[in-house]
Amino acid sequence: MGAFYTLVAFFLMAGLMIALADATTSVNAGIFEVDLLFPRNATYTPQPLMPLVWALQNPPLASPLLATIYWGLWEGTNRTGPGSISDGGFEPYAFMNNLSSSEPVLLKNFFNTISYPDGVWTLYWAMQVTNCSQTQDSTHVIERSTTIVFTTSSSGQAPDLVAATKEDMCRSAEAFAFDVTSTDVGGICGVLGRSPTINPCAATIDAAAASSISAAATAEVCLPGQPPYPNVTCPTPTFASSADAAGRSRLAAASTLLMLLASLTALIHRGF
Ligand SMILES: *[C@@H]1O[C@H](CO)[C@@H](O)[C@H](O)[C@H]1NC(C)=O
Ligand SMILES: *[C@@H]1O[C@H](CO)[C@@H](O)[C@H](O)[C@H]1NC(C)=O
Ligand SMILES: *[C@@H]1O[C@H](CO)[C@@H](O)[C@H](O)[C@H]1NC(C)=O
Ligand SMILES: *[C@@H]1O[C@H](CO)[C@@H](O)[C@H](O)[C@H]1NC(C)=O
Ligand SMILES: *[C@@H]1O[C@H](CO)[C@@H](O)[C@H](O)[C@H]1NC(C)=O
Repeated sequence: MGAFYTLVAFFLMAGLMIALADATTSVNAGIFEVDLLFPRNATYTPQPLMPLVWALQNPPLASPLLATIYWGLWEGTNRTGPGSISDGGFEPYAFMNNLSSSEPVLLKNFFNTISYPDGVWTLYWAMQVTNCSQTQDSTHVIERSTTIVFTTSSSGQAPDLVAATKEDMCRSAEAFAFDVTSTDVGGICGVLGRSPTINPCAATIDAAAASSISAAATAEVCLPGQPPYPNVTCPTPTFASSADAAGRSRLAAASTLLMLLASLTALIHRGF
């Protein structure tokens, strides 16, 4: 009997602990920040896959704020010139609602600057969030936007995502921060306090993240069935490499020979 109640108490405690764990992993207040990590105010060599990288700090808060990022990009004064993008964007509120970790996440894209060996590029970007005021039972859309200008030149520097988030460079990153003071019961509506100071150095790109960003961009333009992407050499799939294929056909030939030998041996043994 005593053992039974101990067991019941144990399961109740376990349930309570799970409930507590859930409550602590769901983020409903804190500073939500977006940082443009790359490109920066600099001169880069022309790139077929020039990266664009933003970081979201405290990403689970994107959801109650209905956070949306819009961006556009053009060279010179011509917003429709080759390489221009007018309708870039991310909807982090839609795909961050299942995140349980507050670790920063990176939002990535890429574009082609090869057509402009000497170009002056403008990147416009905006962050839109909704300030849900419980007391006034109304919502307010807040938009913050900015532009960054960078140049392309054959004498420029190669894009270096790691260097862009290092101590000396990170401070000058463009960023917007929002102080979520609370969210309503369902966690679907965030109330904002006054704008906090930005902390862009809290988001970094290490060498592994940088190479995975570059690999993902190459993989995207090299998907089977895609038209060739100019100035990108797609890796040949390893299973189709000629060395492998030759190796495998030799192996196949050898095993066919072994089977023939085996059948011959069998025939000999049967006395034919
Ligand atoms: C961009 O960098 C150049 C060269 O370092 C500098 O002269 C210019 O003021 C910078 N512009 C901005 C907006 O920071
Ligand atoms: C802008 O670029 C487009 C596409 O290359 C071209 O058709 C158009 O004439 C350009 N406009 C100006 C004002 O240069
Ligand atoms: C979150 O949702 C996205 C899109 O629905 C999915 O791809 C991703 O795997 C989910 N992540 C987790 C941690 O459940
Ligand atoms: C959000 O709304 C609240 C309540 O109306 C207001 O006090 C606060 O200043 C607003 N925050 C921002 C960043 O607009
Ligand atoms: C890009 O590819 C084109 C041909 O598709 C070639 O003419 C050009 O030289 C290449 N540019 C660079 C920078 O490699």
